[in-house]
Amino acid sequence: MFAARRTASLFQKRAFSASAINASKVSVLGAAGGIGQPLSLLLKLNPRVSELALYDIRGGPGVAADLSHINTNSTVTGYNPDASGLRDCLEGSEIILIPAGVPRKPGMTRDDLFNTNASIVRDLAKAAAEAAPKAHVLVIANPVNSTVPIVAEVYKARNVYDPKRLFGVTTLDVVRASRFISQVQNTNPSGEAVPVSNHSSIAGQARDALVNRIQFGGDEVVKAKDGAGSATLSMAMAGARFAESLLRAAQGEKGVIEPTFVDSPLYKDQGIDFFASRVELGPNGVEKINSVGEINEYEQGLLDACLTDLKKNIQKGVDFVKANP
Ligand code: NAI
Repeated sequence: MFAARRTASLFQKRAFSASAINASKVSVLGAAGGIGQPLSLLLKLNPRVSELALYDIRGGPGVAADLSHINTNSTVTGYNPDASGLRDCLEGSEIILIPAGVPRKPGMTRDDLFNTNASIVRDLAKAAAEAAPKAHVLVIANPVNSTVPIVAEVYKARNVYDPKRLFGVTTLDVVRASRFISQVQNTNPSGEAVPVSNHSSIAGQARDALVNRIQFGGDEVVKAKDGAGSATLSMAMAGARFAESLLRAAQGEKGVIEPTFVDSPLYKDQGIDFFASRVELGPNGVEKINSVGEINEYEQGLLDACLTDLKKNIQKGVDFVKANP
């Protein structure tokens, strides 16, 4: 009891100092959706967020009214597409999260979402480039391999592109990998740092099964939800963790590292402008991009296959904006 009270008071003190020193407006576009709602809830509980701005084509003000009754210090405002709603939502934002878009149904690939989500993300990016060009943009809408290049092209066309401030949120893949590996190895999932753990202890069929489960983790959820959508709750946690990491880095913490899909030098010589790897975050966004490190032959095979697809996914996003500016 005493320990719980002490923890609560420490938490409150931290909450107070974080919000007193730093005012951070975070906006969520697509806030009334399956991801948007729990993501907004988690952000409402984050003491580093001082202002939460929620936009959706329908339902933003309702979600905002609900969350605004939670007794944490941040203010919450909801916006509709009418008049200057989107602009007002975006103005002054330090972080913009984009979970707007359609999710997968059983049998669909992420790429099947392209036609609908490409134009949604393009239009939201246009508004963001005008209203808050210096904000960090965190793209959740799939296919991330194409939607991130779409945002980059929109920003480039307006001369406001800063490659250090654009992120594809790929946190969920690593969150899943940590959990699945911990189940095989009987370790603590929150401490399972995937890219640096010693995987040589998992080999053969067990390794293949694990890799397959991680690669198709999203399908597991799509299938279990049976037409009602894709991962929303675990994705909300992953998105909130990424936003929290950016805020920690913005507020001066060093050594904050997250896996994320960014404009990256790693494979530019192969014509691939974006790649997901472990990225150190700083006050201006991307601070240092880590390479994939030493990998074995098996992993190299997976990487080669990935690079071929990735190049096409990126080009598809770039071509879309060229053809539909
Ligand atoms: P959902 O359909 O439940 O919610 C989407 C929300 O976006 C709805 O409230 C809808 O009204 C809103 N919306 C649609 N067009 C909009 C626009 N132009 N402006 C503002 N809001 C708009 O879908 P859910 O499950 O929340 O998924 C959202 C996206 O996230 C999908 O593209 C999905 O594939 C993706 N996703 C990404 C993951 C990742 O690891 N990056 C993991 C899981 C899903």
